Amino acid sequence: MASNNGSREQWSGKFGFILASIGSAVGLGSIWRFPYVTGENGGGAFVMIYVICVLLLGLPVLLSEIVLGRSTQRNPVGALRKQAPNTPWFMGGFIGIIASIIILSFYSTVGGWTLYYTWEAIANGFHQLSINGIEAKFGSFISNPATTVIWQALFMLLTMGVCIFGLQNGIERTNKFLMPLLGLMLIILVIRAVTLPGSGEGIRFILYPDWSSVSITTIFEALGMAFFSLSVGAGTMITYGSFLSKKESVPSAIGNIVLFSTLVSLAAGLAIFPAVFSLGYEPNAGPALVFITLPSVFAQMPIGSLSAVLFFFLLSMAALTSSISLLEVPLRYLEDEHQLNRKTGTILTGGLIFLLGIPSTLSFNILSDTKGLFGLTIFDSLDFLASNVLLPLGGLIVILFAGWKWGMNQVLREARGEDGKGLPAQPFWVFIVRWVTPLLILTVFAFQILSS
Ligand code: PHE
Repeated sequence: MASNNGSREQWSGKFGFILASIGSAVGLGSIWRFPYVTGENGGGAFVMIYVICVLLLGLPVLLSEIVLGRSTQRNPVGALRKQAPNTPWFMGGFIGIIASIIILSFYSTVGGWTLYYTWEAIANGFHQLSINGIEAKFGSFISNPATTVIWQALFMLLTMGVCIFGLQNGIERTNKFLMPLLGLMLIILVIRAVTLPGSGEGIRFILYPDWSSVSITTIFEALGMAFFSLSVGAGTMITYGSFLSKKESVPSAIGNIVLFSTLVSLAAGLAIFPAVFSLGYEPNAGPALVFITLPSVFAQMPIGSLSAVLFFFLLSMAALTSSISLLEVPLRYLEDEHQLNRKTGTILTGGLIFLLGIPSTLSFNILSDTKGLFGLTIFDSLDFLASNVLLPLGGLIVILFAGWKWGMNQVLREARGEDGKGLPAQPFWVFIVRWVTPLLILTVFAFQILSS
């Protein structure tokens, strides 16, 4: 896909694009972030609001981003500039670029954890450990500044390597096998988790909505989670859409992206919460949740050690296909707008993002007492700023642009491929894009600001 000579290579057809976009969407967001944010926000009710946010807010932004990218074949800033020259709309593109840089900075922290876990699983380091043993192991790993930074660096190097050598095509093809395998592993994990003794409470926790625990903050978190898990608001889908040939129609691609990312999130929740309750752990354990509960489930499975190796390897790959899409955003911008060659761009941006991510990694050890926004740790502050503020803001600008400035006729026409297949139920989507999505995002923002 990547090119060094300025001419744009394209995805190997719609299938390649769908795979790459699913690769971007499905990652740590669904498997690591969704379960712990659900745990911190009371369970079932959060899950329901999340699904509504995916459909009414995330999906329309996803549509607008892909269509915008495809029709202009440009990076987020260039795309908005091309469609609305001499207006401030391009600022929306910059918000996306900043969001993707911040997200990748703390994503690489957790990406490093997945690599370390793969390594530990290969060394059979989780074998027959109790949940307390695994918690202690995670604790001693996380408290070591040097080791955690080294694993983070390794994750960033892998990401940069793929972007420099333009291996997306290779990854695209490999993913054809790895993603279904990850899905299968999740299904096995769900089956094991829901059949653990005492798992009923966990199933109830994630499926039964307890509305009394819902506040405006819950909705705010669900909105951010929906955007994060679909990779929208960060310009990623504008960038990926820019590689999509005009021959292909967009709607079916969108359906697939939404379906897979949501299913993987739900499966991750169903694998984790029954285990949490069965093993007597805390659902609101925060970012460590998945890393402590899942090895415990593997420990209770036949061929558990092998399954753990496979699972954490697949999780690292899923993280990698998301991180390359995040790095691709600033890279594409620098290539398009500043004619920077790909190698220099990757080394510069990748290096900078790595440095930016170090404080996040250290916020689990030597910087754990350093507080950022609202008394949160550095890691949580950056996550809050990017996921809950910048992504919805970037998405809001794109959706307002699509609905009001560019115009829905244009969006609908551009969504069509050469086969003429367009979006079904068009009047419905026109109404959603113009009114429902922007007003809902604005309302959630307004209430959150008023209540804080
Ligand atoms: N969607 C990715 C995940 O779930 C993260 C991501 C967010 C990627 C925003 C690109 C843009 O892991």
